[in-house]
Amino acid sequence: MGTNPKMLPFFSSFFLFLLVSSSHHSFALQNEEEEEGIINRRDFPKDFFFGTATSAYQIEGAYLEDGKGLSNWDVFSHLPGRIRNNDTGDVADDHYHRFLEDIELMHSMGMNSYRFSISWTRILPKGRFGKVNRRGIAFYNKIIDNLLLKGIEPFVTIHHHDLPAELDKRYGSWMSAEMQEDFVYFAKICFEEFGDRVKYWITINEPNVITLMGYTKGVYPPGHCSPPFGNCSIGNADIEPLIVMHNMLLAHAKAVRLYRTHFQKKQGGSIGIVAYGHMYEPLTDHEYDIKAAERAFIFIFAWVYDPIVYGDYPKEMQEILGSQLPSFSDIEKNIIRGSLDFVCVNHYTTFYTKDCLHSPCSDGGDHAITGYLNTTAYRDGVSIGDPTGIDVFFVVPRGLGKVINYIKERYPNKPIFVTENGYSMPQAEGNNVEDLIKDTKRVNYHKDYLASLAKAMRDGADVRGYFVWSLIDNFEWADGYDTRFGLLYVDRKTLERRPKLSAHWFSSFLGGNLHELTKYSSIVDKNAFDSLMDD
Ligand SMILES: *[C@@H]1O[C@H](CO)[C@@H](O)[C@H](O)[C@H]1NC(C)=O
Ligand SMILES: *[C@@H]1O[C@H](CO)[C@@H](O)[C@H](O)[C@H]1NC(C)=O
Ligand SMILES: *[C@@H]1O[C@H](CO)[C@@H](O)[C@H](O)[C@H]1NC(C)=O
Repeated sequence: MGTNPKMLPFFSSFFLFLLVSSSHHSFALQNEEEEEGIINRRDFPKDFFFGTATSAYQIEGAYLEDGKGLSNWDVFSHLPGRIRNNDTGDVADDHYHRFLEDIELMHSMGMNSYRFSISWTRILPKGRFGKVNRRGIAFYNKIIDNLLLKGIEPFVTIHHHDLPAELDKRYGSWMSAEMQEDFVYFAKICFEEFGDRVKYWITINEPNVITLMGYTKGVYPPGHCSPPFGNCSIGNADIEPLIVMHNMLLAHAKAVRLYRTHFQKKQGGSIGIVAYGHMYEPLTDHEYDIKAAERAFIFIFAWVYDPIVYGDYPKEMQEILGSQLPSFSDIEKNIIRGSLDFVCVNHYTTFYTKDCLHSPCSDGGDHAITGYLNTTAYRDGVSIGDPTGIDVFFVVPRGLGKVINYIKERYPNKPIFVTENGYSMPQAEGNNVEDLIKDTKRVNYHKDYLASLAKAMRDGADVRGYFVWSLIDNFEWADGYDTRFGLLYVDRKTLERRPKLSAHWFSSFLGGNLHELTKYSSIVDKNAFDSLMDD
């Protein structure tokens, strides 16, 4: 695709708006007023999916139990100094033993769906170079059966960051085209074993985060990077992310082809992939920054979705990256084009974007791989929204509606799922249990983002579901357990779950019965609860 003409109305109205608004301050206020408002379950269709999301390594624990093999994350988290506080996922939330309680809690919140992932090494401890572990299959059968008993629709992610360490050792996992074969082998077992009951499949979670964190910055396994993005003993941030993405896209496409050929008709499910998609606004009203904001979305989101929808990388990437960008053969283009039934986006924040094609930049803005741009949360020293527990994430509700509208325009006629959206509290704002449980800011985050989503839907976007990241405080990758996204608080010593105010808010919003579980309801201050429920 060339410069997408459909983007022009959006950017030109944004441009006009900047011209008429007297200051950035009034700009922010106006947007807030527009989004603030009463949000109601009735703003969404009856059959809309409301759920929470998790991933295997982040919650399961039991890392050596019942025949499970070692994953890349098991190995990486045990390297000293890689994870904040040297935390690991060895025990995590012990969901492996407490899944019944967790399913009960999501049910009592009124959730009708649940997005979780399958630990590759529970099913295949050594990838395709070893046996299938039946006890791993039995575990996910129990999860799926108990969800269905409670009327909760399973959305299953096949690969969510954790992969057999064996495949890293043998051929460097995603750096090698061999990985495509391993992924399809794993996916086939999932379709065979679970596909009679699982109707929503997601092949890979956030390939664009795996590339960024694993191969550009080196803070996730395999810890590859190069300056200026990071200082690693191994890696090439200008090349490796492109190779890794290429292998993941082809692995996805081949798994989808397999599903469609051998399973879809009989099982009646659908399949897609998840990419992270933040929103990008120009730092200034200069046309170069407006173009840079468009380029940011292309280099981060369309990098994943243009091949899957249209069969090739975006034209802007081909022009800027030249021969560094791997190419698809004609046969591959035919396999990858149209390899999706729906679009899934994980959305948290919005960035300002500054052009680096026409003005000097450092910090990576001077590298082709970034699309020659720089992103920042600050304009004239003022942040784009309230801070969160992730340094670069800020609360910008309008971004969700905008990203949905962008997806609707660029990839028309595809149902959309928001497969992750959530809030973590800044560390500085308290670390005692009471503060963490009275999570008023999380409630407001979801109210405001849901209002923005509802507006995009009123304007015609075909959105089918919304998943909160996350059901439960968990092992937040390189941040360990300090960054908490859960609706459920977890006592790290006893592993006891306690619903936060936000869990109660969702229960009330969705017509659940969390308050009736007296064991849990006494935790939340009644006045704080009532005042939130008033509107
Ligand atoms: C992590 O482990 C290393 C090696 O044992 C140690 O030097 C470091 O202080 C630990 N970090 C924390 C935050 O405990
Ligand atoms: C890499 O190391 C150099 C020299 O120690 C330092 O100046 C630079 O900030 C580091 N870069 C990153 C991204 O950590
Ligand atoms: C790029 O953005 C970062 C903040 O995200 C900022 O620290 C840095 O100075 C920026 N670089 C340039 C050249 O603007």
